[in-house]
Amino acid sequence: MSEPVQQAEAYFAETTADDSERQRLAYIQSSFDPKSIQDLTRIGVGPEWECLEVGAGGGSITRWLAMTVGTSGRVVATDLDTRFIADIGMPNVEVRRHNILEDELETDAFDLVHCRFLLTHFEDREIALERMVNSLRPGGLVIVEEPDFSTIKALDHSHPDSEYFDNVMSILFKKVTDQKIFDAFIGPRMPFYLANAGLSRIGSSGSLWVASGGDDHAGHLRLSMPILESMGVLASEDALRLVNILSDKSFKFTPFASYSAWGTRRA
Ligand SMILES: C[S@@+](CC[C@H](N)C(=O)[O-])C[C@H]1O[C@@H](n2cnc3c(N)ncnc32)[C@H](O)[C@@H]1O
Repeated sequence: MSEPVQQAEAYFAETTADDSERQRLAYIQSSFDPKSIQDLTRIGVGPEWECLEVGAGGGSITRWLAMTVGTSGRVVATDLDTRFIADIGMPNVEVRRHNILEDELETDAFDLVHCRFLLTHFEDREIALERMVNSLRPGGLVIVEEPDFSTIKALDHSHPDSEYFDNVMSILFKKVTDQKIFDAFIGPRMPFYLANAGLSRIGSSGSLWVASGGDDHAGHLRLSMPILESMGVLASEDALRLVNILSDKSFKFTPFASYSAWGTRRA
């Protein structure tokens, strides 16, 4: 297999075509928004809060936050690539093209900073976290949601593709992590990163369900396969076979887990 053509700090889907990337982000949203909203509700986001959403992607959580904080609150939604949030058109939302690893942010400004599936992409995640923490007012909350791809496993071992799927997926995400495309196993470590960033009252949660080929979670993985193939971590014949398995409604598997971790900036 060829070496990856990607630089470590480039976002792995940065050059993906509009329609495909919009759909991939939509699949992430429909799979993971219920849990994100549950966690955001549980930590108490409400009217008048001033929120920062980093790496907002397709913007569903930005929209939910904007509805929840109301017109007396506000949401700043940032992304390297604002093509899917530029036209969000809500009066309490400011969209900002911003690189969390390089560009300055206001300090002591927000009640909440949220990101999902962002820090997994950075080797310099401490830089991003420090910037996010400094943007909070004392007493403000950070909540981060990051993945653990080790949970992806076939559930029905009488299915002819189960053994192949488990083998190829576990090799693939180990390679993705070793070659620093993203850290596929970072989710459970997030509470430690938050503690090292100086936050207090740290909490965490995670969730899993039974996914099927052809559903939205499988759709997200299916659309990621050609990207990983183009980066040289997945052979074409494996990408094709995985796309077929992930389209097969009779194929049941555990999805990748999303871990949330949250903490409070000390007063
Ligand atoms: C996997 S997507 C997740 C999108 C969204 N948070 C969600 O969960 O629906 C990661 C997002 O992070 C953005 N991103 C990647 N690197 C970034 C950086 N250095 N600064 C800001 N955003 C970045 C990407 O453009 C993309 O929109």
